[in-house]
Amino acid sequence: MIDEKILSILRNNTESYVSSEDLCEKTGVTRTAIWKHVEKLRQDGYEIEASPHIGYRLVSIPDSLIPDEVKWKLKTKFLGRSVISYKKVDSTNNIAYQLAEKGVKEGTVVLAEEQAKGKGRHGRLWTSPSKGGIYMSCILKPSITPNEIPKITLLAAVAVAKSIRQVTALGATIKWPNDIQVNHKKVCGILTEMKAEQDAVDFIVIGIGINVNTPQKMLPRGASSLKEECRSGRKAEDIPRIEIVKKVLENLESEYLMLSKHGFDPIIEEWKHYSNMLGARIKVALPGRNFEAQVYDIDKNGALVVRLESGVLERISSGDILMVR
Ligand code: BTN
Repeated sequence: MIDEKILSILRNNTESYVSSEDLCEKTGVTRTAIWKHVEKLRQDGYEIEASPHIGYRLVSIPDSLIPDEVKWKLKTKFLGRSVISYKKVDSTNNIAYQLAEKGVKEGTVVLAEEQAKGKGRHGRLWTSPSKGGIYMSCILKPSITPNEIPKITLLAAVAVAKSIRQVTALGATIKWPNDIQVNHKKVCGILTEMKAEQDAVDFIVIGIGINVNTPQKMLPRGASSLKEECRSGRKAEDIPRIEIVKKVLENLESEYLMLSKHGFDPIIEEWKHYSNMLGARIKVALPGRNFEAQVYDIDKNGALVVRLESGVLERISSGDILMVR
């Protein structure tokens, strides 16, 4: 609590020093206590300059996905208002699912610096090394039926693609249903899980994994990270993960509110804008059947409509696809 207060005062005065007297007065603790709290903040990675007789100044913040940093100036109504972050977990989706079962608020977000068993689609493993990426799960409680869940996944893909473009200026695109690519390489995956009754959704967990600063050598074939794709020379700066997390939460909430206000049509239009798939030739892998086709459209429920060699149109609502180039 005192840490938060000190931090908030220093954040609002980064251009100048804040005297110890000022900090004591505003927090109600002694000079020695202020000094101890500053030390603690330094250990958490905050760079705080201390000048004798003048005071303290915040120089830089750590790129840790801690709740205070996520919530600082976050422009959302409910998403990310409650954040729980961990150093290492098996899977943030599992933690979020357990919390949702216990009845935590809609909008609760679980973050981890590392996942031991990050879950991907179709039972695959999601490579989740420490510090390089964002591993985040958001709990939502939409009033939709279970068969509408793909809409939420598509909506999340729009929010992530938009956020990556806004923060990094990289040309992020969506590959159906929910991969985000940069230069045709996968930089983000989304795994939506839910608990539902027959015809009503109890809650959903949207798991988002973004390779931000992860070195290429740690990633599987066909994948990359934002930093790798930003690299123009040999060396590139780390991309601040916290900015991406906040942007994703803001965009995800506004897409979600748009869905409840205006339905799915405007989201499909945005999805088309961020996707590079319409007209593309693809390979489709369905259980027991593989074929090539051309992407014709995406329908009002988020299914991919493809044109087969024969000219017949077919709807695909789940499965793996590969872009043919
Ligand atoms: C995919 O296969 O493309 C989906 C990958 C989803 C990975 C994220 S990382 C955060 C969340 N926790 C998990 O265990 N999985 C998702």
